[in-house]
Order: sequence, then structure tokens, then C-alpha cells
Amino acid sequence: MVRNSRILIVDDVVDNIRVAMNILKEENYEFSFAQNGGEALRLIFEVGESFDLILLDIMMPGLNGFEVCKKLKENPTTQEIPIIFLTAKVDVDSITQGFSMGAVDYITKPFHAAELLSRVATHLELYHSRELLLKHNINLKAKAKHEKNRLLSELEDSQKEMIFILAELMEATSDETGKHIKRVAETSALLAKYHPCLNDEDVDLLYHASPMHDIGKMTIPLEILHKPERYSEDEFSLMKKHTINAYSLLSHSDRKLIKAAAIIAHEHHEKWNGTGYPRGLKGPDIHIYGRIVALADVFDALTHKRHYKEAWKIEDAVAYVLDHRETQFDPELVDIFQEHLDEFITIAISQ
Ligand SMILES: [Fe+2]
Ligand SMILES: [Fe+2]
Repeated sequence: MVRNSRILIVDDVVDNIRVAMNILKEENYEFSFAQNGGEALRLIFEVGESFDLILLDIMMPGLNGFEVCKKLKENPTTQEIPIIFLTAKVDVDSITQGFSMGAVDYITKPFHAAELLSRVATHLELYHSRELLLKHNINLKAKAKHEKNRLLSELEDSQKEMIFILAELMEATSDETGKHIKRVAETSALLAKYHPCLNDEDVDLLYHASPMHDIGKMTIPLEILHKPERYSEDEFSLMKKHTINAYSLLSHSDRKLIKAAAIIAHEHHEKWNGTGYPRGLKGPDIHIYGRIVALADVFDALTHKRHYKEAWKIEDAVAYVLDHRETQFDPELVDIFQEHLDEFITIAISQ
């Protein structure tokens, strides 16, 4: 049942307003009234009153009912309010014009009380049902949007997780454990976090792209990858290619994450003084992502056991990093490492 609907009655004859109100007051409606079109528009647009239905006379001094109707239908905030013309004009042209202007009904004077009551109730009900539907529809749309976003981030999270799983699988073919890539990711993200020129996006990219730093090793024959003895010069040249091979695989992507992975895979064996590989890049010519993962990868390799060496003591590994400031590693990164040493050590001994 419709309760407390607000009705505006517009008529230049006060008695007509009174008659309509008397009939309609047996319902729980609230009323406002205006004696001309200008006053009606002022109530709505200036005073800001809102109505659920308007009973509108046509013949009035100043703006007539059709003109008022036109103004209301032109405005998006009022165009949905149902308008019923309540008029003595009974000619077909006026009735036609009334409906063509968007009125929901046209009642001619004199009218029966039951007729007015029933038509007003019907149109109010329709109006409120429509509003409800609209609200429901908006809620549904919001829900659908929320669900879509949820699925998208779920998909993104799955992809990021899949990268870790694939990289772990790859690492398992060498003697490096999956934990290595996790620690390198955390160490890289920490270096990025404290770097003054990097932002949250860089931290996130480094965390999720660094696991792919050695993905190119999958292109290296297993007998070389697993060889316990020292590499011959040829074998080492082949081994170095894991950087280039990964780069040529990853660099075609337009995705930020894959692009970052391409850079990291390509440059994580470059050294600050230009003695690294594959291109012998020097200093800041090495991408900051490459410099970061280079430090993270070496520090983690030193602090953990490999088939060709035992795990170093933490203090020895730290000393190595500090000793290679400006030769192997970016001095700024070594300073960050030293300044937040406790946090880096926590990662190194975490698993
Ligand atoms: Fe590598
Ligand atoms: Fe590594």
C-alpha cells in the first residue's frame, strides 16, 4: 500500500484545489498546492520540494498546464514524476496534446470522487513500483560490477600465484629450491620499498616478476645445469645464455609484469663495474630492477647451500655484499641493505 505519497495540486481556482484535497485526504497523502504554473515550478526547482504525483490544471494565468508539463518533462530530475491533467478542457485536441506531452492521465471536470481516488492511487502505485524496480536494478548492477571486479582480482592473483608455482617447478630442476625464489622476491621488494626513486607499483612488480629471473635456465641442457664440476669456457658461455633466452621469450609482451620479468631475466647478472653478463652494462645503464635482483639473488645464493658449495655464515655473506659495493653492486642499494640489515637477514633465515 502506498503511504505518505506527496501530491502537488496546481489550479488557479482555490475551490478546485479544496475539492481535490477533500476527496484525496481519506488516503494518507501529503499535499502541497500552487495557484499558477510559476508557483508550481518554484516549489519544485527553487524550494526543492519533491512530489510523487502532480495534479495539473491546464487553463491558468501565466504559464498554462502544458507549459508547466513541458518544463518538468525536460528536466531529468523531474521527468519521471507522474502528471495527471485535471481540467475542464474536454476537446480531443487538448486530451491528445496532454498525453503526447507525457501525462499519465487526463481527468475532465467534473469528475467523480471514486474516479479521482482510483486513478491517483493507480498512478502512485505504478510510480513507486517503477522506483523500486529501478533501485533494484541499480543494486543488481552494482552487485554485478562488484562480482566482476572480484573475479578480475581473483584472476590476477591466480596468475601471480601461477608464476611462483611455475618458477618453483623450474627451480626444482636445478638444485635451487622454491624457497629461493620466494626469498629473492621478498628481498627485492624490500630493496625497492626503501629506494627513494621507486614506488609501490615497483615494489609489487619486483615481488611478482623476480621469481622469473632464472626462467631462461629451462633452455639450458640439464647435463650442464646439473654439472657438479666447474664449467668449461664453452659451457659457461652456454649457461650465460639463460639471460638472453629468457629476454627474447618475455620481451614481446605488453604486460607490465612480463616486461619487468624480461628486464630482470636479462640483467640480473650484470655488475655495477661492467664486468657482468650478458652485455657488460655499467652502473646506472643497468636497469634498477636488474640491479636489485642481482643483489637479492647473490645474497640468497651465498646464505644457502648449493650443490657446489655450503651455505655461508650470514656475517660472511653480509661482508661479501658490503665489500662489493660499487664493484658488483649498486652502491645505493648496498647502503639500503646495510641500513636495514636486520630485515634482510630476517628474510634470509626465514625458511
Ligand atoms: Fe641467473
Ligand atoms: Fe636465483
